[in-house]
Amino acid sequence: MSALRTLDDLLAEGVSGRRVLVRADLNVPLDKQTGAIDDHNSASAPQGGTPDRVRIADDGRIRAVLPTVGALVEAGAKVVVCSHLGRPKGEPDPQFSLGPVAGRLGELLGAPVHFATDTVGDSARSTVADLADGQVALLENLRFNAGETSKDEAERGAFADQLAAFGDAYVDDAFGAVHRKHASVFDVPARLPHVAGRLVLREVEVLSKLTGDPERPYVVVLGGSKVSDKLAVIEALLPTVDRLLIGGGMCFTFLKAQGLEVGTSLLEKDMIDTCRNLLERSDGKIMLPVDVVVADAFAPDAAHDTVRVDGIPSHRLGLDVGPETVAGFSAALSQAKTIFWNGPMGVFEMPAFAAGTRGIAEAITKADAFSVVGGGDSAAAVRALGLDESSFGHISTGGGASLEYLEGKTLPGIAALEN
Ligand code: 3PG
Ligand code: MG
Repeated sequence: MSALRTLDDLLAEGVSGRRVLVRADLNVPLDKQTGAIDDHNSASAPQGGTPDRVRIADDGRIRAVLPTVGALVEAGAKVVVCSHLGRPKGEPDPQFSLGPVAGRLGELLGAPVHFATDTVGDSARSTVADLADGQVALLENLRFNAGETSKDEAERGAFADQLAAFGDAYVDDAFGAVHRKHASVFDVPARLPHVAGRLVLREVEVLSKLTGDPERPYVVVLGGSKVSDKLAVIEALLPTVDRLLIGGGMCFTFLKAQGLEVGTSLLEKDMIDTCRNLLERSDGKIMLPVDVVVADAFAPDAAHDTVRVDGIPSHRLGLDVGPETVAGFSAALSQAKTIFWNGPMGVFEMPAFAAGTRGIAEAITKADAFSVVGGGDSAAAVRALGLDESSFGHISTGGGASLEYLEGKTLPGIAALEN
């Protein structure tokens, strides 16, 4: 990590009048709306884009790059920001336009952001060419070009050549995408002088504390829907952590592995044996829910009750952990000196099934511990539930990226910066 050149190194060289290409992760959740819009963080779709007005449901990732973009603006750079949004299939798709994000970024910067309606075409070329010192451009979604995510080096390289032509230097501030071997993350830094932005640097500093020598007890809370998504991180963390608390949709595959019936809850049948094996090897470190909130249907107004995990009715599905589970998990968290949390405990977007996630989040804020929230969903949950962000040690902007970092994998975007 110490090998990384940083934004401060670049600023010290002087960037006034230079074009600086910033890879950001502005992959924010959008709500499509046809009616009234929340004035605070709304932006209209760009011309030629989707007819729906869209609302940025959580602008945390936009805020997170302001320190880097702001410093470059102040230093008089011509700042060319690029990002992906969602998973379009290598061609323009208006529902994934970054237009609304350009509007919000401009509001937050307090200066207009010049939006290019393509990524490396005529609009991008003229937008970049017209930038004055201290102005900011945002290119359209990188994934509108097949070269961005291509497995073919030559195809990625050709796209990276076009992107690199927009910068005299490259800053990676897209922590949420550093685990992707994509053109803008991996191939562009090989073509330009490159540094880590403030966000990437902070994320790596914080996460390296967890993989280094965390103060103990070290308690990890994992939620979210799929065991298969979390398997690698569970394997990597089991030897390291003192306790691993498991909630969210993925807990039902573990409960099933213990021989319990889980009704119509989310279940990954092909993972049951794996979960059983993990439980056997876990030395009692894994804690599972003892009660859950079960509902008649996956719906905000579904009839629901709290039941013990050995009493889940065959026709109902679990959508949250119950209050006894929250109490037990909270007790474990209150002992912790280091906490990592990834993944909601239930369907927190529906108020009837938000208490588990809220309870765990509150227990984390109360613990006298260094706490890290990893992941798009858990970070969004913190903000959606109106919790005080400053009472967590760090809220990561990376979901997959923070998990892969904790797994000890080489992250292509970080490796590219180290070269
Ligand atoms: C994310 O939200 O996980 C990052 O922006 C990366 O997006 P991806 O998983 O579609 O590559
Ligand atoms: Mg992802």
